[in-house]
Amino acid sequence: MELFDAAKPVCALAPMQDITDFGFMSVIAECGAPDFFVAEYFRVHEFSTLEKSVLKTVLSSPASKPVAAQIIGEDEFHIARTISLLKKYPQIKYLDLNIGCPAPKVYRKNVGGGLLKEPKKIRSILKAMRENWGGFLSVKTRLGFDSADLLEEIVGIINESGADFLTLHGRTVRQLYRGEADYGAIKKAASLSKIPLIANGDLTSAKKALEVAAYTGASGVMIGRHAVRNPWIFRQINELRQNREMFLPTLADAYEYVEKIHEHIIKTNPQIRYADGRMKKFLNFIGLGVDEDGAFLNEMRRAEGVAQLFEICKKHMLKNPSKPFALEPYPNLCSRPNHEL
Ligand SMILES: Cc1cc2nc3c(=O)[nH]c(=O)nc-3n(C[C@H](O)[C@H](O)[C@H](O)COP(=O)(O)O)c2cc1C
Repeated sequence: MELFDAAKPVCALAPMQDITDFGFMSVIAECGAPDFFVAEYFRVHEFSTLEKSVLKTVLSSPASKPVAAQIIGEDEFHIARTISLLKKYPQIKYLDLNIGCPAPKVYRKNVGGGLLKEPKKIRSILKAMRENWGGFLSVKTRLGFDSADLLEEIVGIINESGADFLTLHGRTVRQLYRGEADYGAIKKAASLSKIPLIANGDLTSAKKALEVAAYTGASGVMIGRHAVRNPWIFRQINELRQNREMFLPTLADAYEYVEKIHEHIIKTNPQIRYADGRMKKFLNFIGLGVDEDGAFLNEMRRAEGVAQLFEICKKHMLKNPSKPFALEPYPNLCSRPNHEL
């Protein structure tokens, strides 16, 4: 299929609710686009329609790269109905099924990661999707619900479904974001899979992404949180892969990135009620590369209002603008005080 190239791992920006939207994808495209993007999911249920803001994301093509639509749901009839709504937009060519979401309010309804307890249900959902969708079909999943015991069966079901590729996050649903991604398990799944497999989870830098792709034998890498921290990561992967000099961002570049976030995500959405809260979502990740002792993160989290946030960014990023922005997150810092992400 056209996305995959035996000579290089394909790169994708991960879907992230409230993050991977039109504005953020535009920022990433300016810093160096991946080969494709996956938009945050459309929730499918009895009364669901295509949420306008997500549809806007799916219909865009930042840097002329494809954007996959993702759905999360469990009812074959309503999934087919959603597909018929998506088919009204011929520019949508990629459709992904989310069977990995670990949020308890999602998996308790037996959707997202909850489906990993019911492999047979995954089979019937994918059958309905394949029968109704002629474009590229993919599945985004985790190792299993509370262990990787069913991984082989699940990879088999995905392979037999007629899906074109799958993405595997190397954690179980129960793990949420705790512990380490298990690249050994991804390697095993890649060897079992007859279709291309994209490795996902904790790919903290361009170097690590390429190492994990080589170790697991995956056909591609998907990056989420570490592309929010380091939006140049896809550009860096390409440069490293081609043995070119890799872009090394400084704190001045990090400040410019914050300005882009404000420009593309905050200013273009005057309806955002808590603009400072929205900016902090991004700054919580960016802060992991600003200073070792977390002074920026501490001050930023207490700030009120966008103007104050910019003052704090200027203070920490522009007082020493040529200081390197860390390629790996500084150890002992956390993007969320509750350690969940
Ligand atoms: C804030 C946030 C929102 C997410 N939303 C989605 C989503 O809508 N669909 C999905 O398949 N995964 C979602 N994920 C999971 C990511 O796509 C990805 O699998 C996970 O973060 C691991 O990759 P990473 O270590 O590169 O971040 C989300 C993750 C985060 C942190």
